[in-house]
Amino acid sequence: MVVSSYTIAYEGSNNEGDSGMNASELMEEARKTAEKAYAPYSKFRVGAALQMADGSVITGVNVENRSYGLSNCAERTAIFTAMTIGNTDIKAIAVAGPDAWEPLPPCGACRQVISEFCTPETPVYYDDSKGGYVTSSVGELYPANSLMEMG
Ligand code: THU
Repeated sequence: MVVSSYTIAYEGSNNEGDSGMNASELMEEARKTAEKAYAPYSKFRVGAALQMADGSVITGVNVENRSYGLSNCAERTAIFTAMTIGNTDIKAIAVAGPDAWEPLPPCGACRQVISEFCTPETPVYYDDSKGGYVTSSVGELYPANSLMEMG
C-alpha cells in the first residue's frame, strides 16, 4: 500500500475490503486533517476523509485562493487525490469543520462530484458542530442524481 501524507494506512487493513475505520474514527481523521486547511480568507477550515475499500484512508482539505471563486472544498480535494493515486473504491466519507456553527453537509458542487464515484448507499458522516456527527448517505444528500440517466 502506498502511504503518503494524504493516505493513512490503517492497522489491520487488507485488500479484502472488510476492514477500515468506523464512523467516529473516520470523523476523527477528518477533524485532524482540517487543521491543515488553507483557508486564510474564510477562516473556515474543513477536512474530509475517505474510507477506501482497501482499508486505507485518503484525506483532503479546503484550499482557498485570493480569487475566492477558485477555492476547492475538502471533499473534492480528497476525491481528486483518490483518483490521482488510482485508488477509486470509496466506502464512506467523513467531513469535519472545526469552525462550523451549524451542521456541515457537503455543498451542492461536492454532492455532484461525490455522486460520480459513490453509490446512493455510500455513508456520508458530517460534523454536527457540537462535537458529534450526522450520519447520512450519498442518495439522501443527492436524490436526483444529475446526468445519471445519460449513462
Ligand atoms: N467548504 C468545504 O471545504 N466543504 C464544505 O462542505 C463546505 C465549505 C469550504 C469552502 C471554503 O473554503 C470554506 O469552506 C467556506 O465556505
